[in-house]
Amino acid sequence: MSSIICPYCQNPLQPTEERTYTCENNHSFDLAKQGYLNLLPVNQKKSKDPGDNEMMIAARRSFLELGFYDPLIESIKQLVNTKLSFQSDNITAFDAGCGEGYYSEKALNNLPHLTTKILGTDISKYAVKNAAKKYKNNFYFVSSVYNLPIADSSTDLILSIFSPFKPEEFKRILSNSGYVIIVSPAANHLREMAELIYENFRPHTTNIIEKMSTEFNHDSTTRTTFTLDIKSAEDLLFLLKMTPYYWSTDIERLENITSKKELSVTADFNIDIFKSK
Ligand SMILES: C[S@@+](CC[C@H](N)C(=O)[O-])C[C@H]1O[C@@H](n2cnc3c(N)ncnc32)[C@H](O)[C@@H]1O
Ligand SMILES: [Zn+2]
Repeated sequence: MSSIICPYCQNPLQPTEERTYTCENNHSFDLAKQGYLNLLPVNQKKSKDPGDNEMMIAARRSFLELGFYDPLIESIKQLVNTKLSFQSDNITAFDAGCGEGYYSEKALNNLPHLTTKILGTDISKYAVKNAAKKYKNNFYFVSSVYNLPIADSSTDLILSIFSPFKPEEFKRILSNSGYVIIVSPAANHLREMAELIYENFRPHTTNIIEKMSTEFNHDSTTRTTFTLDIKSAEDLLFLLKMTPYYWSTDIERLENITSKKELSVTADFNIDIFKSK
C-alpha cells in the first residue's frame, strides 16, 4: 500500500507486523478491527467527531442500497468507459469523501478493460468504519480531503461525489495522465422535496468548474436526470436524512415530508470530468 503516506512526515507507510503501519520515522498506525487506518492527525480535527454522524451514515447506506441512485452509477461507469483513456489497464482509483463506500465499490469496480486498486477516504470515522467493514477488497482510511495522506502522482482516477475538495491536493496526488470526476447537484436535484419545505425553491448552482480551473482543464459536463419513485415512508425518511434539509429544518416543516407515504422526487446530477493541465 505504498501510495499511502504518513500524515506527520509524508514518508511511505508500510505494513510492518500484522495490524500496524509505520513510516521510517517510526510513526505508527494500527489497523482497526474493520480493516481501516485512522490517518487524521488530532490537530486537523475541527471537532471531536468531524464529518457525517452515525445516523447520517446509516441513512445513506439504507437509501443507496435500495438502488435508487444506481442510474448515476451507470452514467459514471459509461463515461469512464467511453471518455477516459489510461496509460495502463491497472489503475489506482480514489474515492474522496467516500461516505459509507457504496460508490467506491459500485462505480470504481468492474470497469470494462480496467483493473482498479480502490482507495477511499472520509473525515467521518463512522463512514470509513462502515465502508471498510463491508467492502474488504478496497482500502479505506480516515483523513481530510484538504490534507491527503497519499503520495504525489500516485492515483489515476479521483471520484468526488457531493463532497468537499481542494483542487491543489487532487492535482498533487494525480498522475500526469489522470482524471478527476466530480458529481454535484444539478439545478433541480430533489426539487419536490425542497418545495415541501421552502416557500421558494432556489435551483442549485455550482462554481465547481471555476474552482477547479486553477489546476485542471475541464473536459465535459454530463447531466444525469431521473425520477425517484419513493413508495414508503421509511425510504422517504432515509432520503430526507441524507440531505441537509433534515438537519437544518424545524420539525413542523419536516412534517410536510415525514407525513407522506410516497413521493416522486427528481434526482439531478452534473458529472464533471477534469484532466491535469
Ligand atoms: C454528502 S456526503 C457524500 C458521501 C459519499 N460520497 C456519497 O455520495 O454517498 C459528504 C461526505 O463528505 C465527508 N466530509 C466532510 N468534510 C470532509 C473532509 N474535510 N475530508 C473528507 N471528507 C469530508 C462527510 O463526512 C460525508 O461523508
Ligand atoms: Zn512519519
